[in-house]
Amino acid sequence: MSVAKSDFKKVTTNSVQEMKQNGEKISMLTAYDFTLAKIIDSAGIDVILVGDSASNVMAGHETTLPITLDQMIYHASSVVRAVERALVVVDLPFGSYQGNSKTALNSSIKIMKESGAHAVKLEGGVEVLTSVRRILTAGIPVMGHLGLTPQSIYKFGTYTVRAKEEEEAEKLISDAKKLEEAGCFALVLEKIPAKLATKVAKAISIPVIGIGAGGDVDGQVLVLHDMLGMTHEFHPRFLRRYLNLYEDINGAVQNYITDVKSSDFPNEKEQY
Ligand code: KIV
Repeated sequence: MSVAKSDFKKVTTNSVQEMKQNGEKISMLTAYDFTLAKIIDSAGIDVILVGDSASNVMAGHETTLPITLDQMIYHASSVVRAVERALVVVDLPFGSYQGNSKTALNSSIKIMKESGAHAVKLEGGVEVLTSVRRILTAGIPVMGHLGLTPQSIYKFGTYTVRAKEEEEAEKLISDAKKLEEAGCFALVLEKIPAKLATKVAKAISIPVIGIGAGGDVDGQVLVLHDMLGMTHEFHPRFLRRYLNLYEDINGAVQNYITDVKSSDFPNEKEQY
């Protein structure tokens, strides 16, 4: 069963902009594989982000920095094969776009060509504007990402709330406007004060999708494995857990082990 509100057969960059105009909130979740992407797409999720959080969630790295362009394409193509309705956005990984707009364009073209995804996302404001503009020349839609930008973790040193001080808040607002002017179709705001996020969502006409940015923005995104309770050691205030799959899977596997050890599994009906 799908609980999608909008009756879009396929969600496009135009659809999410229409949703903002109509006051309908945009739902977005991450996915990195075929099976989970199929489930969340059929549930009616609007946007699927193949996030570089795959570096943490799927590969067990401490940061998002190590994941490569080819690894992102592997995850993205698995997701694209599963999806019928959602808009699929793929993170440009660290090192694939910063500082050189030609590299940014080539990385984006490679993602679109080899995965079949619909858009790319990159982190940063004024520093990445040239890259945003160049990617857009190839007709590739770009989603921005401001606030906590995990690819810059070694510059900031912590994952705490960003833009609490006036100067950083002013830069964030200015960056958001510049990304809109450059042609981004939407913007993610991560872990910033709710009041600031509201101000940004009102100041620009493209959809603002928040994570730890309060409820008064145009949509919400969470990491799927976090909201399903698979990553049980991560407890940020913004995270609402809808399931406790860590416990459920752990329990199921313990039951399986018990059944195998006791020769209860397989029984006569479970054999040929
Ligand atoms: O990589 C990711 O999962 C993200 C979201 C947290 C927005 O960028």
